[in-house]
Amino acid sequence: MEIISKIKTMQEIADSLRRENKKIGFVPTMGALHQGHLSLIKAAREQNDALVVSIFVNPLQFSPEEDYESYPQVMEKDTELCEQMGVDVIFCPEMAEMYPPLPLRERDGVRETTVERQSMCLTTVHVSEITSGLCGLFRPCFFQGVTTVVTKLFHAVKPHTAYFGQKDYQQAVVIKKMISDLNMDIEMQILPIIREKGEKGLALSSRNAYLNPEERIQAGILFETLRIAKLMLDNGERDGVRLSSWMKENIEANPLVLLEYAEVCDTEILKPLFQIETRALLALAVRIGKTRLIDNMIWEQAG
Ligand code: PAF
Repeated sequence: MEIISKIKTMQEIADSLRRENKKIGFVPTMGALHQGHLSLIKAAREQNDALVVSIFVNPLQFSPEEDYESYPQVMEKDTELCEQMGVDVIFCPEMAEMYPPLPLRERDGVRETTVERQSMCLTTVHVSEITSGLCGLFRPCFFQGVTTVVTKLFHAVKPHTAYFGQKDYQQAVVIKKMISDLNMDIEMQILPIIREKGEKGLALSSRNAYLNPEERIQAGILFETLRIAKLMLDNGERDGVRLSSWMKENIEANPLVLLEYAEVCDTEILKPLFQIETRALLALAVRIGKTRLIDNMIWEQAG
């Protein structure tokens, strides 16, 4: 397994693999790998000749008050896991490699503080409409940060197929739209959520590491709400407003859980559904203590 930190070297490896007609599978991550990531890596390993995993905690997708500084970084453990999973290349660029600072000089008469964050990347990729609701309402920097970094990673790794988890459903839909709108020649696969065993069914996330034992118990409300909402749909509920109101009430009944959103949406344009027909996205975001958790489920009419 190679560990590559330079974009140019990564591009050369990708070019040489492509010259040999090798299929490149790519799993972009921010590290702190868990079984959710490993399920993507496993699928990518099975379906490609070469497998690249990137590990880069992307500052552009965090708002100033979010957990960029404390985001878990466990490179040694991640490297071991990648080695065990048969990864060929870990691409882990330094911050200055991905976002070189602008070469400001004293005589430019520009105070560096005024361009601190923006100086990292003057070109951004923005997907409109489907980024405005759900997580987009609560994390204003998030999607533009994600689509910008994923584009940069795609240009470095040059994958044939890229793998994302359904856990970040809106992110996956946004990236899919970006790939199609910008004619990127990349196949995208979205793989199912991996949950902790047991009835609490907590969706795996690197941020679960922030939860204390009491908060971990409270976090069970996410899967419980989704599971009951899905049962209500199975039993004939078709009123999206009534269903999302029930989801909100079920979560708000727990004083330790702060609701961000509980929505019943269209699965592609992510707009609230008033009348549910054959398919719906049930999506939740909450805060428990300092931890933000999201979860979702797709409901489809049987048959
Ligand atoms: O889902 C993630 O881990 C990140 O948002 C991603 C896609 C690696 C971009 O930084």
